[in-house]
Amino acid sequence: MSDRLHTLSGYLYEYQKSIAQPEEFWARIADSFFWRKRWNKTLKWNFQDPDVRWFEGGKLNITENIFEKQLFTLGDTPAIIWEPNDPNEASRTITYRELYEEVGKFANALKAKGIQKGDRVIIYMPMVPEAAVAMLACARIGAVHSVVFAGFSSTSLADRIIDCKAKAVLTSDGNYRGNKKIAVKAVVDEALEKAPVETVIVYQRTGQEVVMAPGRDFWWHEVIAGVSSANKAEVMDAEDMLFILYTSGSTGKPKGVVHTTAGYMVYTKYSFENVFQYSPGDIYWCTADIGWITGHSYIVYGPLLAGATTLMFEGVPTYPDAGRFWAIVEKHKVNQFYTAPTAIRALQAFGTEPIEGYDLSSLKVLGSVGEPINEEAWHWYHTHIGKGKCPIVDTWWQTETGGIMVSPLAGITPTKPAYATLPLPGIQLCIVDSEGNELTGNGVEGNLCVKFPWPSMIRTTYGDHERCRQTYFSTYKNMYFTGDGVKRDHDGYYRILGRVDDVINVSGHRMGTAEVENAINEHPLVIESAVVGYPHEVKGQGIYAYVICDMKNRTEDNLVNEIKDTVSKIIGPIAKPDKIQIVPGLPKTRSGKIMRRILRKVAEGALDSMGDTSTLLDPEVVEKIIEGRK
Ligand code: WTA
Repeated sequence: MSDRLHTLSGYLYEYQKSIAQPEEFWARIADSFFWRKRWNKTLKWNFQDPDVRWFEGGKLNITENIFEKQLFTLGDTPAIIWEPNDPNEASRTITYRELYEEVGKFANALKAKGIQKGDRVIIYMPMVPEAAVAMLACARIGAVHSVVFAGFSSTSLADRIIDCKAKAVLTSDGNYRGNKKIAVKAVVDEALEKAPVETVIVYQRTGQEVVMAPGRDFWWHEVIAGVSSANKAEVMDAEDMLFILYTSGSTGKPKGVVHTTAGYMVYTKYSFENVFQYSPGDIYWCTADIGWITGHSYIVYGPLLAGATTLMFEGVPTYPDAGRFWAIVEKHKVNQFYTAPTAIRALQAFGTEPIEGYDLSSLKVLGSVGEPINEEAWHWYHTHIGKGKCPIVDTWWQTETGGIMVSPLAGITPTKPAYATLPLPGIQLCIVDSEGNELTGNGVEGNLCVKFPWPSMIRTTYGDHERCRQTYFSTYKNMYFTGDGVKRDHDGYYRILGRVDDVINVSGHRMGTAEVENAINEHPLVIESAVVGYPHEVKGQGIYAYVICDMKNRTEDNLVNEIKDTVSKIIGPIAKPDKIQIVPGLPKTRSGKIMRRILRKVAEGALDSMGDTSTLLDPEVVEKIIEGRK
C-alpha cells in the first residue's frame, strides 16, 4: 500500500494534519508496515536529554518489510540493477526473490562466523550489489552495520573500527573506479594492524592479489558456498540500533550517528515515495555512494522498502567519458535520477556535447542533494538533462536526519531554482536568530532548527550520548539544531544557505575544519594550521589551509605536496586541501583565538571587506597573509 500524495492541496492538508496530530499521523503511516507485534506508544520524547522513542514496544525486522511483505507481489521484479565501472562489462539485474536469497545466505554465513544481534560490523566495500546484501544481512540478524566510504584511508577506517568496537569487517579485494584499480583489502590490512577484528570477509571483485590471514580472513564466495538461503529474521525492538554512520562535525573526531529500526524504516519509505513520486515499474537511480547517508536511505532502504527498482553504479561520471551518466540513463531507461550539484557542475564544464545523441526521454524526475545547488547549475540541469519537462527536487537533509526533510514533491510542489521549497509532512521547522528567538512569518533569515521529533532522527552518537546532546540539542533550548543557515522567502519557501559552523562541504562531502587541521598537524614540520572553506566552481567549497611550518631545507612546493599526502593518508584523498599557503603567523586575538573570519575573507579574495582587525594581537600578520595569498 502506498501513502503517496498526489496533489498540492493533498500535501497541504496532510502537512496540517501531521502537525496537529503527529502521533496519529505517523501511526497511520506505520500501520502499513509488517510488524511482528504492534507498538504500545507511538512517541515519547524530550529534547533535553535528548530521549526520542518512536513506536516503542513494537517488534519487527526491516528486511521482512523489504522481502516477506512484498515477495508475493514483487518476487520477479528487479530490486537492484547494477551497472559496472566498465561499460563493456555486463550489467546485473537482481530480482527481489534473488536478493532475498542472497541476503538469507549471507546472513547465515555471518551467523556461522559468530556474528550476533547487537554486534557491530564494518562494511568497507565498492559499489557492488553485495554491499547492499551485506547491509541487509546485518539488519536481518540484528547486527549493527557501519558502512565506511571505501575512499577513506586506513587510519580513518581504524578509528571507526575502534570507536564502534567492530567484530568483523566486510570488504573486497579491490575496486574499479574510472581507469584505476584500487587496492581495498590492503587498506583494511593496514587498518587491522591498529584495530584488530575477529573476522574479515572479502568479496572478490578485481581478482587482484591479496593477503589472507588464516583463521581471520575468508572469501565471500566460500562462506556462502552450499549455505542455505532460509533464514529466520531476528525480531528487533522498534528502537534497536539499525546502523551507525560516521560523519564530520565541528570538532576533530568524526562521530557515529545512530539510527534505529522502526522510525528509520517508516520515514525513508514514506519520504522516498513522496519526494520522487515513484510508480511501480519505474527505474530509479541515485548516484551516491553507499558510504554516505544518501546511499543508505535512498539507494538501499527507502527504495527497497517501497518495492522500487534501484540502480547502483560502480564507476565515476567521467569514465570512459563525460557522457557516461547519460549513457546509463538511456541504457536502463532511468525514470528518476538523483545526484549532487558538484556532479552537475563538473559535467556542465564539458558543455552539452557529451549529452547529444543520448535518449533521455525516460526521465521524469531529477533530484539534487548534498549541498546548495546554485541557480546556474539548476537551470542547466533543468534545460539540458530534464529538457524543461522534469521537476527538480532539491532535497535538503543530513546524516542526522536520516531522511529528506525539505524538498518539493516531484510534480506537485511548484519549484523555484535553488530553493528546497517546503518541509515534508511531519517536519516542524523553525528559524531562530543567534539568541535562539524564533523568527516567525515570512521573509526571514537565520539558523535552521527542528522543534518536534520525526521518526528517522538521530538517537545518539555512538558511545557518547553527551556529545549528541551538546552538538545538536544544547545550542537552542528544546530544538534540534541543524548547523545550517536558511532563508524563508515571502512565499514561505526555504532556501538553505550553507553551514554556519566549522563544517565545510566539499563536493557534497562533509568535512570538519578541525579534522583537516589535525591531519595537517601530523606532518612533523607543521607547527600550526588553520583551515577554512572558500567558494569553488565545481566543488561548491574548496579547502584552503594556512600553515605555519618549520621549513628546514624544504622548498615550499615540496612541503605543500608532503602536507597534501599526509592529509590523504590520514583522512583520505577527499580531504586534500585545494590550496595550502605557508604563512609566518595566524591572525589571533589577544586571548589566542584564531580569527577565522579574516582567513575566510582572504581565501575568498574579499580583501576590501576584512572588517575590524583592531583586536588582533599582531595586525601585520594579515598583511603578510594577503601578500602570499594563493
Ligand atoms: C548540506 C547529506 C543545501 C547541508 C544528505 C547539510 C544541503 C549537509 C542540501 C548534510 C541541499 C544537504 N541544499 N545544502 N539540498 N542537502 N546539504 O550529512 O549543509 O552528508 O547540513 O547529508 O549538507 O550533509 P550530509
